[in-house]
Amino acid sequence: MTTVTPPDRDRTATRLLRSSAEHSYDPEVEIDWEAPLVPGKYFVPPHRSSLYGTPLWEGMTEDQRIELTRHEVASIAGLGVWFETILMQLLIREYFKQDPTAPHAQYALTEIGDECRHSVMFGRMIARLGTPLYQPTGVNQWLGKWIAHTGVGPRMYAAILIAEEILDTLQREAMNDENVQPLVRMVSRIHVVEEARHVRYAREELARQIRSAGRGRLAFDKLVIGRAAYLTGTRLVDPRVYQAVGLDPEEGRRAARANPHFRETMRWAGERVVAFLSDLDLIGGPGTALWHASGLLPRTVRA
Ligand SMILES: [Fe+2]
Ligand SMILES: [Fe+2]
Repeated sequence: MTTVTPPDRDRTATRLLRSSAEHSYDPEVEIDWEAPLVPGKYFVPPHRSSLYGTPLWEGMTEDQRIELTRHEVASIAGLGVWFETILMQLLIREYFKQDPTAPHAQYALTEIGDECRHSVMFGRMIARLGTPLYQPTGVNQWLGKWIAHTGVGPRMYAAILIAEEILDTLQREAMNDENVQPLVRMVSRIHVVEEARHVRYAREELARQIRSAGRGRLAFDKLVIGRAAYLTGTRLVDPRVYQAVGLDPEEGRRAARANPHFRETMRWAGERVVAFLSDLDLIGGPGTALWHASGLLPRTVRA
């Protein structure tokens, strides 16, 4: 089945295809996977650690703090792979409905190609870090499978954007921070360059879909979008990471949740995507409570 594509869709896709041809990276050759990790360097900027500034943090040695950030970056990458695997399934399903001669459809395939390389890159990084694999479990895992099989339209693009933009904000800072391990900086840099295209594609497509759907009929989408925000906000740092520094996961989770520095980090990481989604009136309705619980909203925004 083919669909008629609006011309602006294909104009954007043509530009993104050209940019992909010029700026795509193969992590297999760009990254020195054999290079040793650098002693004394953090794995996320220390002020972004979920426990930074808490009494627990003050009680840790420098080595323990670094060790915690090793697990935190593995958790972020584990969630990244998980979202990318969902995204690839969504995109291939959308592609199947489209005309393969259209640039918009071709860009969807190109983005899947990017995500294939990213997931290999994150997987290799996690293996190199030597941590457990931290990915959603239980009801979150089930919801991930459900959205991978059924996600369409605004809820699909908004859920993608939440994950992509939050990760992007964290990685833009990490790639420029000299306290951070070179491996993590390089992985972040490759991801940031390629994700800029994905964010553009998803933002424009979402805005087009909202214009044609009308703002009033998106209650179910708002609920799903709120749940995606909640998952991202609460599972970016998997509570199991605290075991790495000898803490009880629940104690660590509670301390992070109450930590004003980390609350600010989550608001900061969510800022761009929250502003974009609230301009489209996608934050609120039945998703309101989930957004508040996600920790991503600025104090001034009331969903
Ligand atoms: Fe990616
Ligand atoms: Fe992406």
